[in-house]
Amino acid sequence: MKRVAHTAEMPESVASLIGSVFGLRHAPLRGRPIGEFLTDMEDVSALIVAPGDPVDAACIAELPKSIKLIASYSTGLDHVDVEAAQRRGIPVSNTPDVLTDATADIAMLLILSAVRGAGDAERMLRMGDWKGWTPHQIFGSDLAGRVLGIAGPGRIGAATALRAAAFGMRLVYWGRRQSEAMNGLGAKPLLDLDAFLEAVDVISLHLPSTPWTRRFINERTISAMRKGAVVVNTARGDLVDDEALIAALHDGRIGGAGLDVFEGEPALHPGYLTAPHVTLLPHIGSATHETRLAMGRSVFSSLQQHLCG
Ligand code: DGY
Repeated sequence: MKRVAHTAEMPESVASLIGSVFGLRHAPLRGRPIGEFLTDMEDVSALIVAPGDPVDAACIAELPKSIKLIASYSTGLDHVDVEAAQRRGIPVSNTPDVLTDATADIAMLLILSAVRGAGDAERMLRMGDWKGWTPHQIFGSDLAGRVLGIAGPGRIGAATALRAAAFGMRLVYWGRRQSEAMNGLGAKPLLDLDAFLEAVDVISLHLPSTPWTRRFINERTISAMRKGAVVVNTARGDLVDDEALIAALHDGRIGGAGLDVFEGEPALHPGYLTAPHVTLLPHIGSATHETRLAMGRSVFSSLQQHLCG
């Protein structure tokens, strides 16, 4: 039986699926000396990793020759140095497609929460500060008629736009090229970044983390947006310059934010904890039973393809 190591605990259903064909070994990587991690890699044919694992060039250089695949339990691969793996001839797989709807649901939840002030409202209740209904407590805005800007019109961006259209939002998008899926929803392509930023009431980020997209939301892009615009991020934390966003939330240039991902997570900038009009979630975009099982099936099929061929 071939042995597969996994850095993160997997759902029971996924562990039993993969364990029906491969020997499984739990080998945490985060917060552990690399030497200790490597002792777990003996006789291992594949390594299953997860977002947040530091699968960098140094780690990849030390992996034993027996490793024939690095399978990430994720769509995003920013935690893996794919080029370093390629240099060692180790393929890297991910789990595309299967988490589109779950992540778009969370993007919609954050759009609603940020625009309607649900985070502030819930905090008011939890703190025991609710004095009863008044005509002016926690004003939000109607979603209908507001402009949603999708930055990165891939599958998740288009699925978010589909949901927002059902709430009556008007759609625009920015990306490197036109998207048939977005055009099919009646979304207007605004491929000039400043034109896009000026047009949006809510911006939802669906870009991969690359050297070109890092700090996409920054002092400059915030100042190009309408006063009171809302920022939603379900993609990667480093798309946002935290200091710039927190300052803009405090002075009202940004009217609200819904964040599911954070640079350096699980740590997050402490300024978010006291910033106004913010809803914070702990990276739960793909966290449904169905989706995590589908992601596990995708990992399983990569393992079969590379180890049982
Ligand atoms: C991914 O798959 O990249 C997600 O961020 C995990 O939810």
